[in-house]
Amino acid sequence: MPDLSQATPYADGKILKQVTDGVGVITFNNPDKRNAMSLEMWEGFGEALTDLRDDEAVRVVILRGAGGKAFVSGADISQFEKTRHNAAASEEYSKRSAAQRALLADYPKPTIACIQGFCLGGGMQVAMLADIRIAAHDSQFGIPAAKLGIAYGYDGLKHLVSLVGPSWARLLMYTGMRIDSTEALRIGLVERVIPDDQLWGETMAIAMTISQNAPLAIKAAKITIAEVLKDESARDMGAIKAIGTACMDSSDFREGRQAFMDKRKPQFQGK
Ligand code: COA
Repeated sequence: MPDLSQATPYADGKILKQVTDGVGVITFNNPDKRNAMSLEMWEGFGEALTDLRDDEAVRVVILRGAGGKAFVSGADISQFEKTRHNAAASEEYSKRSAAQRALLADYPKPTIACIQGFCLGGGMQVAMLADIRIAAHDSQFGIPAAKLGIAYGYDGLKHLVSLVGPSWARLLMYTGMRIDSTEALRIGLVERVIPDDQLWGETMAIAMTISQNAPLAIKAAKITIAEVLKDESARDMGAIKAIGTACMDSSDFREGRQAFMDKRKPQFQGK
């Protein structure tokens, strides 16, 4: 587990942020409610994401839930009566929470969702927006929108369909069923499943590897993969070319070549 004693609090401490060795960590910290997300937490999450985005020491960001029982159990249903009781209220609510998720969708640094326990509804939305999902054996995944009478929205479903395909997306959405990690791994919802007690160590090891690699090369991969996923008419080939040029002209590329020839570990600067 990360040491949360030095963490920076947002949303009254229900969102925590810390940085270790180039790795930023955001913890959803409302374990009594299985880390259900209130509007204040969505906004705190956005602030923490922004601060880590602007922190030059941070090369990769991990998202995790506190308490060992949940990543995020979805939006805080107890707020719905006040903030999401009809279409107009729901639109305002969605706008405020979607603005924070948009930050994650367009995040310039690699992101990893480290999932232990329940990952439901809005929690799935967050996890699916991360670049990579690593889950503990005992995790459970689901989108119970049909059990609550909620329309899940374009962005959430776009990511679900692109990860698991339309048929599994329909099965999950029509039934609101929960699936375990083994099934989630099989259908492509998560990339790796790890024993519970090794989850944090394994996730950090992946994050450390990423943080020591060449930032521009990772950015090139991130931008290019995002463009591959867009419709051809919306695809920005210029952005791919620009990051490719920046990467191949970078001093990091020189350092990578030199370090290989010198048989030493490269020291990348991100330029
Ligand atoms: N919103 C608000 N409160 C929530 C919540 C959510 N999404 N998920 C859990 N909680 C609260 C519970 O109401 C309970 O509060 P209480 O202690 O005051 O009674 C507490 O968290 C613990 O939940 P509990 O159901 O007792 O724990 P559990 O381990 O048996 O089950 C869940 C955990 C997550 C499976 C279950 O709480 C659940 O189904 N939550 C709703 C999930 C959901 O529908 N998410 C989509 C929202 S759009």
